[in-house]
Amino acid sequence: MRHAIIIGTGSYVPENIMTNDDMAKLVDTSDEWIASRTGIRARRISTGENTSDLAYKAANKALQNANIEARELDLIICATITPDSFMPSVACIVQERLGAANAAAFDLTAACTGLIYGMASATAFIESGMYKNIMIIGAETISKALDWTDRSTCVLFGDGAGAVVMQASDVNNGVMAVHLVSDGSKQDYLCLPAFELTNPYIPRKDDYKPTISMKGQEVFKFAVRSITDHIKVVLEKASLREEDIKYIVTHQANCRIIEHAARTSGITIDKFFINIDRYANTSAATIGIALDEMVEKNLLQSGDKVILVGFGAGMTSGAILVEW
Ligand code: ACO
Repeated sequence: MRHAIIIGTGSYVPENIMTNDDMAKLVDTSDEWIASRTGIRARRISTGENTSDLAYKAANKALQNANIEARELDLIICATITPDSFMPSVACIVQERLGAANAAAFDLTAACTGLIYGMASATAFIESGMYKNIMIIGAETISKALDWTDRSTCVLFGDGAGAVVMQASDVNNGVMAVHLVSDGSKQDYLCLPAFELTNPYIPRKDDYKPTISMKGQEVFKFAVRSITDHIKVVLEKASLREEDIKYIVTHQANCRIIEHAARTSGITIDKFFINIDRYANTSAATIGIALDEMVEKNLLQSGDKVILVGFGAGMTSGAILVEW
């Protein structure tokens, strides 16, 4: 049986740090409000780099950590809701910059669950025998999609990229369970409109706003439920118990979501890796950034079992149980 294992991680965030106090100069908010409601203290905001720049730097680091050549990559998947352009894809731009001449490349839209959907797709490509080495990137310059006058959304997000290299293995377990869910009936919880539908037959609307809008409390409840349910499902699929799991890495949207989910599932909060205080919500990038930080801190040893859980617009959600 061919398994999909993780052989490298990488991440990159823009240098520019925007603190909650900096944010309070733009909108009517405070460090106290933001930190107590979300756990966020600061975020990185691009001063010129676009999504492909962040994606390339994270992917390049992941490739070095994986210790393989760019030419060995068979596929590059980039999960993003803030691409440089609809075409070419961010994945194609990264393919060229890495020199990954043998790789197919495409972007994937699953919002904040993007890396989970990308890793699930990569697992299927690898287990089927179609591909051996796959780069999965979650990258966002979400700052360009924010209404910087709307305090209820602009304080929550940051820019960044995380990447994972997956490889076929006959020896290690790697991905032991995958669970993906979509619920289009909740599509109005989180929205980011694309091009306005306008042409010689359809006049422009004065109030068209291509920025993020959100039903915060609905998202909160959806997120807690998704984390709690999906942990149970992947544990059951892998025939494991919660005690067998070293870490749970959820999408970093809000510290309180993670704390609620921990309480609801009866799992100690110490098992949940949290770094939202420094980066805020970087959408598809959060889980990759977290994994790379965990590797750098030497928190993951061979054989450790980790659950990755995402949730995001669509609404989409999903989890992966992986042996390191
Ligand atoms: N600073 C100060 N006051 C604020 C701010 C702010 N940044 N934002 C909102 N407020 C005010 C509101 O105007 C409101 O004031 P009012 O009572 O005078 O009308 C008050 O705070 C309460 O607003 P709520 O929206 O009810 O605040 P709530 O307690 O629900 O917290 C929050 C909002 C933090 C967004 C919460 O709903 C939440 O965490 N939701 C989850 C959504 C999330 O994490 N989204 C991330 C993106 S989605 C994703 O990643 C999948």
